[in-house]
Amino acid sequence: DGNTMDNTMGNIIGSTMQGLKLLVTAAGTREPIDPVRYIGNRSSGKMGYAIAEAAARLGAEVTLISGPSALQPPAGVEFFGVESAREMRQLVQEKFPACDIVIKAAAVADYRVKNVSDQKIKKNDAELTLVLEKNPDILKELGEMKQPHQTLVGFAAETQNLLQYAKGKLEKKNLDMIVANDVSKPQAGFNVDTNLIKLLKRDGSIEELPLMSKKELAYIILDRVMKLRK
Ligand code: C5P
Repeated sequence: DGNTMDNTMGNIIGSTMQGLKLLVTAAGTREPIDPVRYIGNRSSGKMGYAIAEAAARLGAEVTLISGPSALQPPAGVEFFGVESAREMRQLVQEKFPACDIVIKAAAVADYRVKNVSDQKIKKNDAELTLVLEKNPDILKELGEMKQPHQTLVGFAAETQNLLQYAKGKLEKKNLDMIVANDVSKPQAGFNVDTNLIKLLKRDGSIEELPLMSKKELAYIILDRVMKLRK
């Protein structure tokens, strides 16, 4: 149960996270097409919610900003539900200046529909073309605003060239650490309770973790973040 996990994982983390403000984003965004349809992705929110819950148990002041998810917001966490990437961006930017640590586990849609229809689109033609335009990269913007006391962690879900892409994002987005997971593996990534991850840090080190539950991994990720801040 949660308390047993705390005792075990409390040893890993060594110290508490009391006095720290942590912002976590989770789940996937939804980009509207018309009043009844959207473009979404397979992110469940499990990894981000597990991180938010673990951090709250360790005493951090946690804000969780989540796209639509079937999960219950963890106890003791300030929770905001959002839909689109632009809604998420607005809230994240509002909360960011007061935060010590930001962990962006959300699967933010890279594109949104350019002309969202006011009315339900009718099936008149054999083909329908949706034009997509690029969403802002929330994490990259945070990387540009980051202050010395702030630690920024991103996720990289890839189906190929995992380490190469993850390393590129770590640098381009000015992150302190990136959690890389190969979502083509059945026990990893979207909508499962386990994950297979590698942690890449700015010093070039790569830590490969064995298959574990997302709840356990949450404590390990927080432990490594705390070590980066020492
Ligand atoms: O570039 P990519 O989408 O793979 O990067 C993943 C990381 O960037 C995740 O931490 C995700 O939350 C964040 N991201 C973001 N805004 C976007 C796209 C990704 O914050 N528009």
